[in-house]
Amino acid sequence: MKKDLLSLWDLGADEIRSLMRRAGELKHMRAMRQMHEPLAGMTLGMIFEKASTRTRVSFEVGMYELGGHAVYLATQGSQIGRGEPLRDTARVLAGYCHGIVIRTFGHDVAEELARFAPVPVINGLTDLSHPCQVLADLFTVWERLGPGALDPGGARFAWIGDGNNMAHSWIEAAAILGLDLSLACPEGYDPDAAVLGRARKNADWRAHIDVVRNPAEATRGRAVISTDVWASMGEEGEQAARVRAFDGFTVDDKLLQIAAPEVMVLHCLPAHRGEEITESVLEGPHSAVFQQAENRLHIQKAILERLLAPR
Ligand code: CP
Ligand code: NVA
Repeated sequence: MKKDLLSLWDLGADEIRSLMRRAGELKHMRAMRQMHEPLAGMTLGMIFEKASTRTRVSFEVGMYELGGHAVYLATQGSQIGRGEPLRDTARVLAGYCHGIVIRTFGHDVAEELARFAPVPVINGLTDLSHPCQVLADLFTVWERLGPGALDPGGARFAWIGDGNNMAHSWIEAAAILGLDLSLACPEGYDPDAAVLGRARKNADWRAHIDVVRNPAEATRGRAVISTDVWASMGEEGEQAARVRAFDGFTVDDKLLQIAAPEVMVLHCLPAHRGEEITESVLEGPHSAVFQQAENRLHIQKAILERLLAPR
């Protein structure tokens, strides 16, 4: 296991599968109200330069439940917002904290933090990727469709919408696990070419990853459909142009009709109902989104235990 979790490439297929199993065990222990405090006396620093509900709360509650503590640091109100170099913050926080989560814009910022902090650094979302979310998504598939769904030749996956940070982490997951993933993105909103290139170069030979323009083509017969907002945090100024560009990319009941009969729909949330997903799909029988959101807690605990617990 590497020191940091900056992208899914920091994990191998076996480590991803072992995190799934551990998240399942931790979820069961929590349901039984069984105390498990391997991180007693340990503290997680949490640097957030963007808004968050799920990531912040699941990490904070996760640390508490594992016997540790979390400290939240927003840009505004800390010296980060006044321009203190991150490389300084990295070394200072590492003197107090046993690990650091960062949510920021540039992925290079998270990489710099990891380089200068001698403690584990976890990517809580950058413009490039959102590995903790996709681990929770994979765990949700694991629970609902069984572990075999994440094996090569298992479930077939689709991504509908923006080739954004979430799409990138899905591409990495597909490459590492050997999954079949079809992404439908409008022209001009493809996943990053370097992310696709790295995935194709290093993929398990059984992986199949393609990018198409037509949501129906990506969806046909697929068992898992994922989507996300059309304008991510930091892209709010492009909202109107993106609504035009993504016309026809809404995950709606009509699209689900051509997917596998028991298709499950994932969305990392927050959702814009009526844009990337309809109210009827989000609240309908195929939606797994609130189980997926809850699973952030269980997967976060598995990650924290793996990276922070003294061995
Ligand atoms: N899905 C997700 O990361 O949600 P938050 O932005 O609320 O953390
Ligand atoms: N792609 C979205 C995900 C939010 C959890 C964003 O970056 O804003």
